[in-house]
Amino acid sequence: MLHQNEVETKYSIREGTSGDTADILEIHHQAFNGRTDVVDLTRDLLVDPSTSPMLSLLAIHDNKPAGHILFSNASIAGFPDNPLLHILAPLAIKPEYQRKQIGGLLIKEGLARLRAMGSKAVFVLGHPSYYPKSGFIPDAGKLGFPAPYPIPAKDADAWMVQFLVEDHSSIPRGKVICAKALDEPQHWRE
Ligand SMILES: CC(C)(COP(=O)(O)OP(=O)(O)OC[C@H]1O[C@@H](n2cnc3c(N)ncnc32)[C@H](O)[C@@H]1OP(=O)(O)O)[C@@H](O)C(=O)NCCC(=O)NCCS
Repeated sequence: MLHQNEVETKYSIREGTSGDTADILEIHHQAFNGRTDVVDLTRDLLVDPSTSPMLSLLAIHDNKPAGHILFSNASIAGFPDNPLLHILAPLAIKPEYQRKQIGGLLIKEGLARLRAMGSKAVFVLGHPSYYPKSGFIPDAGKLGFPAPYPIPAKDADAWMVQFLVEDHSSIPRGKVICAKALDEPQHWRE
């Protein structure tokens, strides 16, 4: 297993541009075994104005795209403009690059850039054995942040949060509101 700094020198991270869309969609197509819903969601998120400010990052190896992560804007019900919050979705690493810590690297770099942008917290609906390795706290609902659509009790741990500020008590508690492209019940089933 490579040390974190060896991973960081092997792969570069840069923001995705409109010229990267085909590569980004191909990464999600391959990683999610051709599942069209994730590819369609990614395409929609990349052009949805309500995701802004968003962060779209590519991991590059030997000039080739290896992975992609997207963070879209979110808010708390009743507080549309403040504080700045994000939802992580989707994250995908091409099959031949999986389990080489690139996912962890994209999450780490994304969180650092979001913190620099002034984002206060990031939510994710994902595997509760994967995201806590990168600092996410399972069951954000229990902490006062219900997901945009109800998560079944058996999957409560899959809805996670990571605070990017020490004093997170200043973040209002309430239902998390997501970008329009994510605002469909089918995106909220684990
Ligand atoms: C899940 C995914 C993003 C992880 O990225 P990655 O670069 O392969 O993972 P990393 O190398 O950063 O992390 C590896 C660690 O996570 C674990 N892991 C990897 N994929 C996992 C998964 N799907 N579920 C649970 N744990 C997983 C590994 O066991 C490993 O842990 P270990 O080092 O303690 O053994 C990537 O495998 C992928 O794109 N999968 C298909 C698409 C997908 O499921 N996306 C996530 C949606 S929530």
